[in-house]
Amino acid sequence: MTDPATSAPESELPGKPTAASRTTLSHIMSHNDTNLLGTVHGGVIMKLVDDAAGAVAGRHSGGAAVTASMDEMVFLEPVRVGDLVHVKAQVNWTGRSSMEIGVRVLAERWNESTPATQVGTAYLVFAAVGAEGRPRTVPPVIPETERDKRRHQEAQIRRTHRLARRRAIKELRDRRAAEGLSD
Ligand SMILES: CC(C)(COP(=O)(O)OP(=O)(O)OC[C@H]1O[C@@H](n2cnc3c(N)ncnc32)[C@H](O)[C@@H]1OP(=O)(O)O)[C@@H](O)C(=O)NCCC(=O)NCCS
Repeated sequence: MTDPATSAPESELPGKPTAASRTTLSHIMSHNDTNLLGTVHGGVIMKLVDDAAGAVAGRHSGGAAVTASMDEMVFLEPVRVGDLVHVKAQVNWTGRSSMEIGVRVLAERWNESTPATQVGTAYLVFAAVGAEGRPRTVPPVIPETERDKRRHQEAQIRRTHRLARRRAIKELRDRRAAEGLSD
């Protein structure tokens, strides 16, 4: 079955290339950012991820955008005090009013010229909203490079899975409610 949400969305707005809103947010980790083990708290990284993704969503959609979901936040390596963290975000896919933002987190020592290593990845869905907080239409993203095109295709797969999971859980709950089963 074709999922209309994953095929080319209907939008009257002119498309925008991925590069137009791609953003990097950089931050040096300090002692205020640590967890009880002395490495950087995952929540600190998640906030930077949400901030960078929010900037991208706002730039692409030309206005306010809110986080609808954050999934597949993966931490690959611990981040340490003194690491210069770069959070790189871009629009992978657009729907009618939602955008999937892909984020890569890189870290390098703040005072060494060694190559940065990838320490995390995340995918977030943002919804563009108008003055009343209601969803509004976003411009379609135009993936340009082969990498952008691959990310666009992979984002469509994630979108299909998110919708299918939501639908399956709703159906299960409706069935249980119809059978009079309580939580
Ligand atoms: C996100 C929000 C605007 C969606 O509003 P809604 O009335 O459910 O509107 P819709 O069902 O039309 O959803 C709008 C879009 O978001 C997508 N969406 C909504 N909830 C989603 C979720 N949990 N995961 C992924 N996408 C989601 C929908 O698929 C739809 O995409 P499309 O228009 O591209 O097809 C609303 O739930 C909201 O305001 N949430 C709070 C957001 C917020 O405050 N975030 C910061 C947290 S502190």
